[in-house]
Amino acid sequence: MAGRIHSEKFASKVTDAETVAKMVKNGDKIGVSGFTGAGYPKAFPVALAAEIKAAHERGEEFMVSLFTGASTAPELDAELAGVDGVKYRTPYQGDPVMRNKINDGTSFYQDIHLSHLHNQLAYGFFGKLDWAVVEVAAITAEGELVPSSSVGMNRTYLDLADKIVLEVNSWQTEDLYGLHDIYYGIEEPPGKRGPVPIMNAGDIIGQKTMKVDFDKVVGVIETDSADRNSPFKPLDEDSMAIAGHLIDFLKGEIKAGRMPKNLFPMQSGVGNIANAVLEGLLESDFEHLTCYTEVIQDGMISLLDAGKVDVASATSFSLSPEAAHMINESAAKYRGRMILRPQDISNNPEVIRRMGVISCNGMIEADIYGNVNSTHIAGTAMQNGIGGSGDFTRNASISCFVSPSHAKRGDISAIVPMVSHHDHTEHDVSVIITECGLADLRGLAPRQRSRLIINNCAHPDYRPILLDYVERAEKEAKGLHTPHILSEALSFHQRFVETGSMKKK
Ligand code: COA
Repeated sequence: MAGRIHSEKFASKVTDAETVAKMVKNGDKIGVSGFTGAGYPKAFPVALAAEIKAAHERGEEFMVSLFTGASTAPELDAELAGVDGVKYRTPYQGDPVMRNKINDGTSFYQDIHLSHLHNQLAYGFFGKLDWAVVEVAAITAEGELVPSSSVGMNRTYLDLADKIVLEVNSWQTEDLYGLHDIYYGIEEPPGKRGPVPIMNAGDIIGQKTMKVDFDKVVGVIETDSADRNSPFKPLDEDSMAIAGHLIDFLKGEIKAGRMPKNLFPMQSGVGNIANAVLEGLLESDFEHLTCYTEVIQDGMISLLDAGKVDVASATSFSLSPEAAHMINESAAKYRGRMILRPQDISNNPEVIRRMGVISCNGMIEADIYGNVNSTHIAGTAMQNGIGGSGDFTRNASISCFVSPSHAKRGDISAIVPMVSHHDHTEHDVSVIITECGLADLRGLAPRQRSRLIINNCAHPDYRPILLDYVERAEKEAKGLHTPHILSEALSFHQRFVETGSMKKK
């Protein structure tokens, strides 16, 4: 049989995206593949956006609820959001068009911990899922699916949706076969569900392919399109300094006898700074590290290639175009060293806690007591979402947050009196790192933390006004456990909204 569809009965269902898109109805709930720009369907969303646009031009209502693994790419989020086609979006996004529609009130967005979504769907919190639209690298002769460059929510959407559309993308190498570990034990309901039997990052507990009920498949679409990943920002002095502080800290943990020489498994978040931290590890003398993380970024591949990392477990690639090309050429050589799992397993709290994962995620801002905002700009506008940062942070042995000390050419301080939105509370945050330094918050009460965070992490331009705030708060506050002046706690943000800068004129 030609191409990637090795099963005759699946080949008999080949159709085009336009035909399938015409079957979608206003209000349908659609679960699509895709995670950080990898493995999303390329043809169906564009065809659906055209249907929605045409319906709107006829004066008809047509919006859908869009469920993904995480962020996708312009062909998906931007296409559908651009025609005002998304009524509800979950669990994570990062597309500028989608973000604008969320922030201008067109689309509802529910920012859900990535490991929670499987359960919430399985428990029926969303009612029934109408569609699963999933990109795969191939369909085997036995009628099982070889996942493509991400796994994300695919197993759940395939299991729960009424109707299934498969996009078989021949741009994805068939050598991806063997890189995935699809675990089905989590399907059992509470009371019957056993432990997830992962003891080490490299453990394989499931199968190489995903199951699919042939009777639910309404169409198979053939594509040949690249994942549209964005390049990372080049390493700058700030990100190298942040990586340096983290590495010194980890060496200190080994010296203190709290960690083995190859550390506990590492998790590294999304974004430029998290990628830079991985690049920094490359220059370090660590060896035989393991990673239990959410995405495999360029920096992780460098670490695997350099022999610094023995094995990396994740749910998706999140690569620059160059690194994606390289993986397409040589995926087979990473079998056994890279493992892609469903996101409820890559981000599984039980496994993260058991293995003592060290988490490291980017943040928008932290406050002087160690609360962290990963998602909102000035308290009201959504940036991306919490993603897996909560899954890892709460369950890690040590949870780190990294950010440059200031943003927008110095007009925004990453350290503020009170965060304008809480994603990670002071109870979950162990370490804060900026280019200025590192604040180790372990074992410290809120009042013991404030000066450490200000003096070690805040940009020098903001230290005096932060110190002034904390000194006055300690005199004026009614309660001295977490001293605040309530009328001023969000004054940095208010000043930014009013003047464009958090700095005092
Ligand atoms: N106020 C306003 N804007 C801010 C800001 C702040 N306090 N801090 C950062 N930004 C802006 C930056 O200026 C930049 O804007 P630009 O794209 O217009 O240049 C953007 O946010 C990204 O910041 P950057 O410094 O490049 O960091 P990043 O790429 O490392 O991303 C997060 C940082 C917080 C947005 C990103 O890590 C994230 O989405 N985290 C939440 C999800 C998560 O942690 N997932 C990992 C789970 S495994």
